[in-house]
Amino acid sequence: MKHLTLLFLFFIGQFLSAQVELSPKVEAIYQQMTLEEKIGQLNLLTPGGAVTGEVVSKDVNLKIKNGQVGGIFGIRGAAKVRLAQEIAVDSSRLGIPLIVGMDVIHGHQTIFPIPLGLSCTWDMDLIEATARQASREATADGLMWTFSPMVDISRDPRWGRISEGSGEDPFLGSAVAAAMVKGYQGKDFKDPTTMLACVKHFALYGAAEGGRDYATVDMSKVRMLNEYLPPYKAAIDAGVATVMTSFNVVDYVPASANSYLFKDVLREDWGFDGFVVTDYTAINEMIAHGVGDLQRVSAEALKVGVDMDMVGEGFLTTLKKSLNEGKVSMEQINTACRRILKAKEMLGLFDDPYKYFDEERAAKEILSEGNRAFAREVAGQSFVLLKNEGSILPLKKSGKIAVIGPLADSRRNMLGTWSVSGDPEKSVTVIEGIRNAVGATAEILYAKGANISDDPEFARRVNSFGPEIVIDERSADAMIEEALEIANQSDVIVAVMGEAADMTGESSSMAYIGLQPSQKKLLMALKETGKPIVMVLYNGRPMTLNWESENMDAILDVWFGGTEGGNAVGDVLFGKVNPGGKLTTSFPVHEGQIPVYHSMLNTGRPYFGQQAAKFTSNYLDVPNGPLFPFGYGLSYTTFEYEKMELSGTTFSANKPLTISVKVKNTGTVAGSEVVQMYIRDVVGTISRPVKELKGFEKIMLKPGEEKVVTFELTEELVKFYNVDLEHVSELGKFEVFVGKNAVDVEKREVELVAE
Ligand code: BGC
Repeated sequence: MKHLTLLFLFFIGQFLSAQVELSPKVEAIYQQMTLEEKIGQLNLLTPGGAVTGEVVSKDVNLKIKNGQVGGIFGIRGAAKVRLAQEIAVDSSRLGIPLIVGMDVIHGHQTIFPIPLGLSCTWDMDLIEATARQASREATADGLMWTFSPMVDISRDPRWGRISEGSGEDPFLGSAVAAAMVKGYQGKDFKDPTTMLACVKHFALYGAAEGGRDYATVDMSKVRMLNEYLPPYKAAIDAGVATVMTSFNVVDYVPASANSYLFKDVLREDWGFDGFVVTDYTAINEMIAHGVGDLQRVSAEALKVGVDMDMVGEGFLTTLKKSLNEGKVSMEQINTACRRILKAKEMLGLFDDPYKYFDEERAAKEILSEGNRAFAREVAGQSFVLLKNEGSILPLKKSGKIAVIGPLADSRRNMLGTWSVSGDPEKSVTVIEGIRNAVGATAEILYAKGANISDDPEFARRVNSFGPEIVIDERSADAMIEEALEIANQSDVIVAVMGEAADMTGESSSMAYIGLQPSQKKLLMALKETGKPIVMVLYNGRPMTLNWESENMDAILDVWFGGTEGGNAVGDVLFGKVNPGGKLTTSFPVHEGQIPVYHSMLNTGRPYFGQQAAKFTSNYLDVPNGPLFPFGYGLSYTTFEYEKMELSGTTFSANKPLTISVKVKNTGTVAGSEVVQMYIRDVVGTISRPVKELKGFEKIMLKPGEEKVVTFELTEELVKFYNVDLEHVSELGKFEVFVGKNAVDVEKREVELVAE
């Protein structure tokens, strides 16, 4: 009986691994592979470069030669990568080419705004085009696989990696995920300017407890399926070729060995057939999570369908033993190996292993004028105008302008986090951007005014990739003194303030998310001058800006705009470009409110007003709501919304409802507006969010121009996962909201009916 079962399992195994169909050429290579060579394909190493863990791979060349490496990452440059590929092709027994990856996150060498900033464009074509450009540059530079898009929903601005994603909302996040995948992968991998994308980090990484990186995640399946998993699913539906695991636990099991995530959701429900790679040493880290030794955790990862081990070499060193001891099956190793070979085949590496090493194209395309010009345009679109009292912006190109602050002349900080191939020296500073914008028509005075932070220990931690926080030799008072001197002579102050590039990103969580004390002190002193102040804010996360929002005349949130960010600031400050970005994360009033997001559930004792009332859900000391809500952003023009029109008061599975609204540009300059549609499912078998984004459209309007924006409310759109984890819609009352942000909306009631 036992033998029969084993025989049965063997045949099932053969059948399953055979499901990864290879071309005859690759199949022939596969048939010659030894067990060791198969395990070798599951091994991803880094020869150095940008590393994010303590482990750096050793003897990489030797291992490639021995057939113990499937791919490498973290190095670039056609000539350099070619050397590694040559070892694989010419010196390993079967000559299987390497797959070469890199974190191409927001641009390759021409850096775009950080992903959180990019998402604020709400422009999916633009976002797709950034990924396309990044892919063109990267594939000329020896790369064929990017560890992007990062689609982790996050509602915790303390978490540093909130900068790498698209914010708090699953609907918007899904659209961005799909756009990025399309941009990187293009239509055809035969095209040498396309590359494999890798959606990460599966899953729920953005919900780390306390906003601490790598920390515990615990959430209900209902929330997971409705609010956190949709963007990963959108990437899968868009055809993403690979998936990366996350560091955190899900239901107390580390993601990299989580059978629910990888077997049930990813492979079975979503039908994903590409390969899964772990995050950096994520297999080894399961030992610290307390779920076993290296052999056990490696086996567990393979068993749930993880195919490639990033850096940790757990697969390389233990899988053979596990196979001999019956802890993993040959079929599991075969399947993983075939998935990786399949990806290489898709890329065309077996026909031409050197197709991505095009030095001529690299010289022509990387950081080309055209690429920089596009990056400048995108950066301008990502800026969010948070305040503009008395229309102080755009500034006039005349008189004296005092540009003050530690980020005004900081080339190092312009690119933002995760710009590993970006050269800070190639970026434009704000002061340069301003000078480029005004030419000789206005006098520009500059003073640093303050350090980003005065705390040397804090600076040391932030500066792990380079001198981003440079503490001046002068005292804080002397610097403020100098700033006041130029401020007093000027007509307006442009205060360029905020975070250093690596105050967000990986392992950059913060408990306090306001402006650092050194900068606040400077700003307060500047306020005393009585001069108008425009704050240009650099940040990778929502910040607490209460004092600033009351005391600044204007606040322009520029995130980290990338290589051309400085020029884009000049474009926007002086009105060449009208800012149209809208927030994709709510800005809290205070850290103690976190999480604050627009799609919260109601409570039995609701409180949405400004006045706290006893025995309702509120704080005694701060309001419940955000300082700046999701979807918020001003423009140099104004938009008027007419009353929305509905095609009826009911909708059904066969008959969607049409919602239209006429929007008019009532100002004097052209501008873009993001018209947003939200719903609330008023009565359901489970409690549903008070508002959920279900549609948006970005429109461009000339002065006086008007456009009708139309949304379709379908039954499909209002489906959700119920308590039995079924994806259903429920008949009954809905509220529909249309407006310019999650708060400023018009509301109507409709009903989902059976027919
Ligand atoms: C990060 C990933 C990244 C990987 C490779 C990890 O530390 O979490 O997002 O892709 O390193 O650089």
